[in-house]
Amino acid sequence: MLKQTILVAGATGSIGGGVAVELAKRGARVVLLGHKLEKLAAKANSIRLALSETRIECQDTDIATLVVDFSNMESVRAAAAEAIHRFPRIHGLILSAVVVAQNGPNILPGGHEVMFATNVMGPFLFSQLLLERMQQSDGLVLHVVSPFYKTIDWDDLESIRNHSTWTAYNRTKTCNRMIAAEFARRYAGKISSVAFNPTFIVNKSDPELGKRWPSGLMGLFWRVMTALFSRPPSVAGVPMADIMLSYRDRNAINGALFKLGKRIEKPDEAMNDEISGKRLWDELVIKTGLTSE
Ligand SMILES: NC(=O)c1ccc[n+]([C@@H]2O[C@H](COP(=O)([O-])OP(=O)(O)OC[C@H]3O[C@@H](n4cnc5c(N)ncnc54)[C@H](OP(=O)(O)O)[C@@H]3O)[C@@H](O)[C@H]2O)c1
Repeated sequence: MLKQTILVAGATGSIGGGVAVELAKRGARVVLLGHKLEKLAAKANSIRLALSETRIECQDTDIATLVVDFSNMESVRAAAAEAIHRFPRIHGLILSAVVVAQNGPNILPGGHEVMFATNVMGPFLFSQLLLERMQQSDGLVLHVVSPFYKTIDWDDLESIRNHSTWTAYNRTKTCNRMIAAEFARRYAGKISSVAFNPTFIVNKSDPELGKRWPSGLMGLFWRVMTALFSRPPSVAGVPMADIMLSYRDRNAINGALFKLGKRIEKPDEAMNDEISGKRLWDELVIKTGLTSE
């Protein structure tokens, strides 16, 4: 049987790393996407080791890596072109890359705020550039979202003028839910799109975990919360792999929101807002330069 090829953005992170292992264990060909080559290579090796420990056979090419910096649209274009060149079939794309940048706004050379570029623009552009390739394989895009809602300020979409870390971050995550739903509306019947709420997941064995916390009281708060309430990556990785690999008719879940393995029927404010979804989409087409394709 043909192996499914699934691209996992944010594969060196808690949630991306968790689903990458689960997909590999179930025989998918996994492509790990990240912006640091060495971390990607280490993650690929750790997955191969995990498979061999559980006596699951895999070929070297079953765990591939692809470098992409989602904050940089040129890098995103280059990575999409490379993916199209290297992978004749792409069955799934998991969008799980994220940055939470403190002390902002942090403006990139291209003029965009780093959280908006990395969390929203880059993943949007990448998925658009892979559309045709994924359509050939009844593709599924899984957007990893968070449940927090923050009203979009259309005059300050990137939260540059009125910036606080959590307002800006929560806006990017609200945008992810809007785009997941708008994607589903636009491409129904051609390619499917779902949103996935992973709940509170932390990879406590990540040697770089300490560097991720903000300083001061906020950092202390997150350390305590993590110790008390976080769950390991497999808690999200297993249902994500189920969603990716188990549905024969992917169209049946197009536009759905999942919280771990449960499909949420209650309407989601951001996903249901069709007017804002369309408006955000149009803004992203311009911001990412897709109009010139
Ligand atoms: N964990 C949770 O409890 C939780 C809860 C709700 C929602 N979520 C959502 O779940 C998703 C994943 O979260 P997580 O906890 O797994 O985050 P994480 O552990 O911080 O992982 C983030 C991933 O994004 C990558 N990344 C950062 N900047 C990048 C860039 N410029 N280009 C490419 N990749 C980049 C990171 O690579 P490096 O490590 O190399 O920097 C890492 O692989 C996010 O969308 C987050 O909002 C998480």
